[in-house]
Amino acid sequence: MTTTRLYGTTPDTGRDGLWAALRERHGPVAPVELENGVQAWLLLGYHENLAVLQNQHLFSRDTRRWREVAEGRVDLSCARPALSWRPNALYADGAEHTRLRSAIADSLARVDMNATARTIRRIADELVDSFVADGRADLMAEYADPLPVLVVNSLYGLSDSYGYMLGDLTAIVFSENAERAEDAVGRIHQYFSELVARRRRAPGQDLVSWMLEHPAGLSDHEVAHQAALINNSSHQTTTHLIGNTMHTLFTDEAVRTAYTDARMTTHELLDHVMWTDTPFQILPARIALQDMRIGSAEIRAGDALLIGFDAAHRDPAVRCDQAGGSRAHLMFGAGPHACPARELARLTATIAVTTLQERLGGLRLAVGPEDLRWVPSPFVRGLRELPVSFTPGEPVAAGPRESAGSARDGQPEAGIRAGAGGGQDGGHDDGDHEDDLLGRLLAWWRDLRVRS
Ligand code: HEM
Repeated sequence: MTTTRLYGTTPDTGRDGLWAALRERHGPVAPVELENGVQAWLLLGYHENLAVLQNQHLFSRDTRRWREVAEGRVDLSCARPALSWRPNALYADGAEHTRLRSAIADSLARVDMNATARTIRRIADELVDSFVADGRADLMAEYADPLPVLVVNSLYGLSDSYGYMLGDLTAIVFSENAERAEDAVGRIHQYFSELVARRRRAPGQDLVSWMLEHPAGLSDHEVAHQAALINNSSHQTTTHLIGNTMHTLFTDEAVRTAYTDARMTTHELLDHVMWTDTPFQILPARIALQDMRIGSAEIRAGDALLIGFDAAHRDPAVRCDQAGGSRAHLMFGAGPHACPARELARLTATIAVTTLQERLGGLRLAVGPEDLRWVPSPFVRGLRELPVSFTPGEPVAAGPRESAGSARDGQPEAGIRAGAGGGQDGGHDDGDHEDDLLGRLLAWWRDLRVRS
C-alpha cells in the first residue's frame, strides 16, 4: 500500500488538497510515514478521531506500547517533543492516569481566574510596552511566544525572570538543534525539580504546592513531571492559537469585519480559528491495543494512530454546518485526556488578542500574507514570525517594574513580582533567591544571555 510522507512537507500549502486526496484514496484512515521508515495511521474523519480519543480501552496513550519502539526504530528517550514518553498524566492510562490527572486538574481548579485575568493583562501590557514605541514588532517572538509561559510561570508563584528563562529553554527544545535541545531538556528538568524542592521547604498558594498537598499523594519526582507537563502542554498550543487568531484577523476580511462590528465575540473568534486554523494539525499518538479494522484500514495491535485535528475539521461530513462559533471542534481533545485547562487557555488567548486590539492603533501586517513563514512541522500549525506595524504609542504599565526587555537582557530585576495571580492573591513574594539551586539556575541563564 502507498504510504504518504508527512515529514519534509510544508504544512501551509495544500492541506485541504492533501487530506481530500488521502480521504479519497484510503477512506477515514490513511497510512503515513512520520519519519524515514516510521509508519503510523492518520485519522482523517471527525467521528473516527473522536471515537479514538474517547476510547481508552482500545487505544492507549502509552507510547512505549508502540511497535516501532519495541522493534527499535523509534527511541522515545530522544529530545523530540512530538515522539516521546514521560512519566506524566499525558502518557498514562487507566487508574494511573486518573491519579496523576486528579492532582493536575484539582490544582488547576483552585486557580483564582479573576486574579489570573489581571496577571495575564499585566503580562500582556508589559510585553506590549517593550515594543509599543517602535511602531513595529514581531508578534510571535515578542508577544505570543513568551506570554503563555509567563502566565504558567506566574501560577507557580515565580517572578517573571524565571518565566523568561523557562520560555527560552522551552523554545530550544522545540528548535531543530538536537544537541542544544538535549541540554535544554536537562535544564528544564532542573528547573522543575528545584521548584518542587523550594515549595516542599516553603509551601504557598501556587500550582506546585497544591499538587504536593493533593490527596493523590504524588512524590516530589511525580509533581516535577506533572509541572513540566503543564508547561509543555500550554506553551505552543496557546502561542499558536494567539498567532493564528491574529493571522485570521489580518487575512480574512469577512471574519475581521464580523469581529470589529461586534457580530462575533472574541470567544466565537477563537472557536472559529480552532476549527479553521488549528494550532496543532496532528497530535501523536494513540496505540492500538488489539487488531481491528477502521474503514478499509487493517490496524494491528501495537500500531500508532495519529489524531488528525485539521483533517477532522475539514471532514465534509461535519465541516459545513459546524465551523461557525461552534465548540464541537476537537482542538481541546476529548475523552479521559481532554485538556484540563480549557478555561485558562481561552482566558489567556482572549486577553492576548484584546490587549493587542486595544493598545496598537492602526495594527496591520508589515509583509504580504504570502511572505509569512510557517513552522516546518507536520504537527504544529503556526507562524515562525508575524511582523506587524502600528502607530507608535506610550507604555502604560504602572509602578516600579523591570520591562520584559530588561529581564531578557539579564539585568537585576528588583521590581518584578509575580503580580496578583502569581502566587494566588499575592501569596508568594518569590523574588530572586540566588542562594538555592533554582536561583543559581537563573544566575546561569542571565550570565548566558549577557554573553550571547
Ligand atoms: C489553546 C491552548 C490549548 C490547547 C489547544 C490544548 C489542547 C490540549 C489537547 C488536545 C489535549 C489532549 C491531548 C491528548 O489527548 O493526547 C490537552 C491535554 C492537556 N493540556 Fe491542554 N491545551 C491548551 C492549553 C493548555 C494549558 C494552558 C494548560 C495548562 C496550564 C494545558 C494543560 C494540559 C494538560 C496537563 C493536558 C494532559 C491531560 C491528560 O493527559 O489527562 N493545556 N490539551
